[in-house]
Amino acid sequence: MRNDIEGILLSEAQIQARVKELGARLAEEYRDKNPVMICILKGSTMFFADLLRAMPIPLTMDFMAVSSYGRTTKSSGEVEIRKDLAGSIEHRHAIIVEDIIDSGFTLTYLSRMLSARGAKSIRICTLLDKPARRAPGITLKADYSGFEIPDAFVVGYGLDYAEMYRNLPYIGILKPEVYEKN
Ligand code: PRP
Repeated sequence: MRNDIEGILLSEAQIQARVKELGARLAEEYRDKNPVMICILKGSTMFFADLLRAMPIPLTMDFMAVSSYGRTTKSSGEVEIRKDLAGSIEHRHAIIVEDIIDSGFTLTYLSRMLSARGAKSIRICTLLDKPARRAPGITLKADYSGFEIPDAFVVGYGLDYAEMYRNLPYIGILKPEVYEKN
C-alpha cells in the first residue's frame, strides 16, 4: 500500500496528538452532559474510536451510514440514509463525528435532519476540513476540527479510495496514477 502513497500529509503521531487534544476539550465541555456520539460510517471509524477513548466521561455511541450521492446531485445536496441511528437522540446532546468535510453537503443535510429529532444540542466534530472544496451556498462550519487540509486526494486513518487504504495509520496523499488508471 505504501507504494501507492505519494507522501504523508499527517503522521500517526500528529493525528494521535491532535485527537487527544480534541478529546480532552470535548470531555471538559461535555463532562456533565452524557452526550451521544454519532459515528458516520465508514470513514470516521478510526477517528471515532480514538476520540472516544480520549474522553473519560459518561457518553453513549451510535452509528449512521449515509450514501455520498449528495456529491453527484449537487443541485439538491440530498443524502441517502443507508443505516439510521439505533436510538433516539431526543433531549440528548449529540456530537456528529466525521472524518472529513468536503463539499459540506453530507453534514449540512445530517445536522438539519438530526435537529428535527429534538436533540438538546447538535455539534459537529470533524478530523479534517477542506474549506477550498466547499460547495457554493454551503455555510456549514465544524464546531471542532482537527486539521484544515489542502485539496489533495487523501486516504488512510479511515479514509478510502475504492474502499481501500482505510487501515493506514496515517493520512497520505494518493498517487494520481492510482486513481487515474480507473
Ligand atoms: C465522505 C465523508 C463524509 C463525506 C464528506 O464519506 O466521510 O461523510 O464524504 O463529503 P461532503 O462534505 O462532500 O458531503 P463517503 O461518502 O466517502 O463514505 P465513507 O465514509 O464510507 O468513505
